[in-house]
Amino acid sequence: MTIPIPAEDPRHVPNRALIDPSAITENTRAMGTLLEEQTALMAVVKADGYGHGMLTAARAAVEGGATWLGVAHPASALALARAGLDAQILTWLFEPHTARIVLPEVIGHGVEVSVGSPQMLALVAEAAREADRRARVHLKIDTGMGRGGVLPWQVREMGATMGEDDFLRLAGAWTHLTSADDPEDPATDQQVELFDSACEALAEEAGPIPLQHLANSAATLTRPDLHRDLVRPGIALYGCPPVPTDVPLRPALTLTSRLAMVKDVPEGHSIGYGRMRTTSRATRLGLVPIGYADGLHRAASDRCDVLVRTEHGDRRAPQVGRISMDQIVIDLGPDSEARAGDEVFLFGDAGGDPNGPSAPTAEDWARAAGTIPYEVLTSVSGRVSRKVLS
Ligand SMILES: Cc1ncc(COP(=O)(O)O)c(C=O)c1O
Repeated sequence: MTIPIPAEDPRHVPNRALIDPSAITENTRAMGTLLEEQTALMAVVKADGYGHGMLTAARAAVEGGATWLGVAHPASALALARAGLDAQILTWLFEPHTARIVLPEVIGHGVEVSVGSPQMLALVAEAAREADRRARVHLKIDTGMGRGGVLPWQVREMGATMGEDDFLRLAGAWTHLTSADDPEDPATDQQVELFDSACEALAEEAGPIPLQHLANSAATLTRPDLHRDLVRPGIALYGCPPVPTDVPLRPALTLTSRLAMVKDVPEGHSIGYGRMRTTSRATRLGLVPIGYADGLHRAASDRCDVLVRTEHGDRRAPQVGRISMDQIVIDLGPDSEARAGDEVFLFGDAGGDPNGPSAPTAEDWARAAGTIPYEVLTSVSGRVSRKVLS
């Protein structure tokens, strides 16, 4: 007989991802101020809203002015459609097995679908017939990302197929930029050139293209000339600007825990697997019950700070030694007043005294781990309970 493991009661674990929907709303609004009136904003809420909760993120973004929602998976699109938000939805990543199961319902709900190959177009046509509803198709053009998308010289054939099928309607043409986070990189202009000439060919074949879109957060922030009909920011809406900017953006996810214990150790005391760190002085260590199984990147071991909130104020403390599966150690310093139970902010917005130290950011953890804040945000694992602030 197998005995089911009881689901963990969040009251028994101090780790929380605090989600602030008002930050997403305000960030969306701030990004919207960059746009001309004719440009719409699609909030990219894939990957469970970059770890913030897809519906929470979607509602908050719509409140901030997003009129489109973008997700990779059709199943996510369906969940959004069922939630009845006042926004158009686009989905762009499916394979034949999934498509046959879910696309008819997706199209039946009026979700717009991206296709990036003749086979995907055939699947969409088949699903549209089954749904008995014309599919609105965004043609994805591969201008250098080398992932999904038709090559520029295939667009005529795709346009012709759409023109011949009453169940297909061309709703847009789009591409994804490889290097917009480096405004100096000529790759962006090369992609735009390819995109524009492909759109010209497509329009010759299939008539005017209702929507063109290619700008992610970085291009929305740095390249107004690329806004076109629709921009597709993701990471900026969650408060992580991918390029330096004056646009006010604040983090929407704060990862917190609490000190499990504090202890005094002498100089020369080793910490963690592999004895990665040895104390250089007598000090007070803090044990925090959060580790890589909660989403901290082990590669960031010994390279990032946390913020500890004590009765006597906030203080930054370095994380020391190797990050373990369920726990980390921080160096509170020899004169620390921290006590077991004190709150620890791993990253995000700790609130508190504006003149005091702030919590590290997802970007700080990303730098320490040699990755990007996207991965830091989406790595917060399922065993960390989300608390949506109101
Ligand atoms: C197709 C597409 N558009 C837009 C975005 C949003 O990008 P960013 O989060 O850099 O704004 C993504 C995310 O990677 C994406 O995959």
